Amino acid sequence: MDVAVVGDPESVGRRAAVLVLQGLGEDPALVLGVATGSSPVSTYRALAEARREGTDFSRVRVVALDEYVGLPETDPRSYHAFVWREIAQPLRIPRDNVLVPDGNAPDPEAACAAFEEALRAWGGTGIQLLGIGRNGHVGFNEPGSALDSRTRRSALSETTRADNARFFPRPEDVPAYCLTQGVGTIAEARTIVLVASGPHKAAAVAAAVEGPVTEACPASFLQRHRDATMVLDPAAAAGLAGHRVSEPTRHRRSGPA
Ligand code: GLP
Repeated sequence: MDVAVVGDPESVGRRAAVLVLQGLGEDPALVLGVATGSSPVSTYRALAEARREGTDFSRVRVVALDEYVGLPETDPRSYHAFVWREIAQPLRIPRDNVLVPDGNAPDPEAACAAFEEALRAWGGTGIQLLGIGRNGHVGFNEPGSALDSRTRRSALSETTRADNARFFPRPEDVPAYCLTQGVGTIAEARTIVLVASGPHKAAAVAAAVEGPVTEACPASFLQRHRDATMVLDPAAAAGLAGHRVSEPTRHRRSGPA
């Protein structure tokens, strides 16, 4: 895994966007895996700027990591709404090119299988953007998620519900369940770019980069991925002992898949 430490959260976004744009240059029909949360918003803003300057995203397919269970797609806090508002609309990506797990499906297991099948039919994820939870989660794979897990219905941890309570009127309004791509599903992306900023992410980042590869820190799977980059601001990188890389131009491919 490569680690790039850049000056501030906006630079994190710009650096991650450069990696996405490189991938788009190689494949105009890129399958772009997208994360929700605050961390990747600066990346989406940088991509939207590229679109305004002429980059064509109309053939890009966008795949979300996760969705709350039981929140209508029209609810602004749903991840359907987030992906549409922050990504598909600004980048002018057609609706048919957007894939989000269906958190309102009467049969969640069938919905997860259909999601995996649709992703497979698109040829899998080319570049996956990730954030990281304070507890090391990726997507909604909470600590304890198997590193070979697939898309499934899962319960949110209390830490995650508390962190996401800022988006809801009352803490008890945060959905308790979600559908999420599994760690194993995410790991199949050919390239992964994880973005993190702020001191509240430092411990999770350090565990993911320098701790053991373990279900206790789902993001630690990145250590075994052959094309993964973390883009961090100095505060998020503050817990790292051995990584002080700041200028990787093209991330190296190292280690087993
Ligand atoms: C949610 C999402 C994750 C995201 C995390 C961190 O729980 N399911 O994909 O990485 O939040 O969010 P933030 O970037 O706002 O800290």
